[in-house]
Amino acid sequence: MYMTGYQCISCGAEQPREFEGYVCPDCGGNLDIQYDYDAIRQEVEKSDSFGGARQDQFKYLPFLPIQSGDAAPPLRVGATPLYPVPRLGATVGLTHLYLKDEGLNPSASFKDRASALILARARETGVDVVCGASTGNAGSSMACMAAAAELPCVVFVPEKAPAAKIAQLLIYGARVMAVRGTYDDAFDLCAKVCEEKGWFNRNTGFNPFTREGKKTSSFEICEQLDWAAPDRVIVPTGDGNIISGIWKGMKDLYAVGLIDQLPRIDCAQAEGSAAITNAVNRLRESGKTPSGVDWQSVRIEPVSAETLADSISVDDPRDGMAAVRAVAESGGHAVTASDEEILAAIKEVARCSGVFVEPSCACAWACLRKLTEAGRVDKDERIVCLMTGSGLKDIQNARKVAGEPTVIDPDLDAALAALG
Ligand SMILES: Cc1ncc(COP(=O)(O)O)c(C=O)c1O
Ligand SMILES: [Zn+2]
Repeated sequence: MYMTGYQCISCGAEQPREFEGYVCPDCGGNLDIQYDYDAIRQEVEKSDSFGGARQDQFKYLPFLPIQSGDAAPPLRVGATPLYPVPRLGATVGLTHLYLKDEGLNPSASFKDRASALILARARETGVDVVCGASTGNAGSSMACMAAAAELPCVVFVPEKAPAAKIAQLLIYGARVMAVRGTYDDAFDLCAKVCEEKGWFNRNTGFNPFTREGKKTSSFEICEQLDWAAPDRVIVPTGDGNIISGIWKGMKDLYAVGLIDQLPRIDCAQAEGSAAITNAVNRLRESGKTPSGVDWQSVRIEPVSAETLADSISVDDPRDGMAAVRAVAESGGHAVTASDEEILAAIKEVARCSGVFVEPSCACAWACLRKLTEAGRVDKDERIVCLMTGSGLKDIQNARKVAGEPTVIDPDLDAALAALG
C-alpha cells in the first residue's frame, strides 16, 4: 500500500498513516489521504497496464488506501461505460460530449465506489459494524456492499427519502433509521451514534476513504479516452465529495504521468441547494487566485435546501471545502439549474441518449446546457457529464415530464385508431 498519511484540506496539518480519527485534530477539517507517488509510478510502469484479477475499480489498487483487493466485496464496482452522445451534444452544438453512466453500478449509483472501498477498509481493519447517514443513495449502496461483504450495517436517512431508495436499504438487510428531519439531521445523529457505539462511520467527506473510492471514476474516464484527460467534467454536487473525488483522481494520474494535462471540473447544483456554488462565486469575486487563498479563512455558508433533486439537497455541504478547491484549482465553473430545468433535462437526456437518470444527474446536463448557451464552454471541448444515478431511483419525478400512456381496450381496431 502506498498511502503515507493524511493532510487536512483546511489547515494543511499532517497525520501519520496510523492515525485513527476521521477529521483534523487541529481544526476539524476533512482529511485528504496522501500517497508516495514515486512508488506508485514505479509500480504502474512495471506492470504495463492495470490487468490484475479484478477488472472493476479495484484494478487501480496502487492508487488505493487498502492492502489488497481481497477484502473488497465481490460485486463488480465501477467499470461503467463512457458513452459518446453526439445527439444530446448537438442540441446545444457540443461536438464531443460523453456520459459516464454510473447508474450501472450494483446498487445503481456512483456511491458504490465509495461504499465498496469503505467495506474493504472495514474488513482489513477488523470493523464489526458499518454505519452512515445518507440522502438515500450512499446508504442503499452501503447496504448493498455490506450484504455482499457480510458485515452488519446501520443507515440513517431522512424519513422523506424516495421510496425506491428506502426499499433498497431494507431489502439488503440494513438496519434503517428513518429520521424525522433533514439529511443534515441524519448526518449529525449518525456521527453521535457511531461515537457512542464505536462503529465505523461512512459519512460522506467526514470519512476520508469515501473520496478515495470516488476518484476511481476519473481513472476509468481517462483510460476510456486512451489515457488522456477530457477538457472538462461536470459533476452533480450536494456535499461535494464526488466532485472532490473526481479532482483527486485526475491529480493522482497527473502526479504519476499517466495524463499530461488536468481537466476543468464544473460544479452543478440545484438553485435551491447551492452552498458550494455560492462559495466558489464569492471566492472568485474576491479576486484571489487559488494559490493565494488561506483556505482556513474560507467560509461555506449553509443554505436551507429546497429542491426535488433529493440526492443533491444539502444544507451544509460535508465536503464543501474540498469541492470549492476542486472547482477553483481546476478553473471550472459553478452553476445552478432550477427544478423545472432539471425535470426537462431528465426527458432530454433519456430521449437523446437512451440513458435514464435521476434528477441530480439531470441537473448536471441542465447546467452544462446553460453554460454552453451562455458561451462559457468551447463547443469543441471533450466534455464528460457524470451521470451518477439511475432514473429508476426516482420515478415519481420522471413521471412529471414523461407524458401519459394511451389507454385502450385489447382490440386491434382500437389500437390502430389510437395510433392513427
Ligand atoms: C446520484 C447522486 N448524484 C450526486 C450526488 C452528490 O454527491 P455529493 O453529495 O458528494 O456532492 C449524490 C449524493 O448523494 C448522488 O446520490
Ligand atoms: Zn486542520
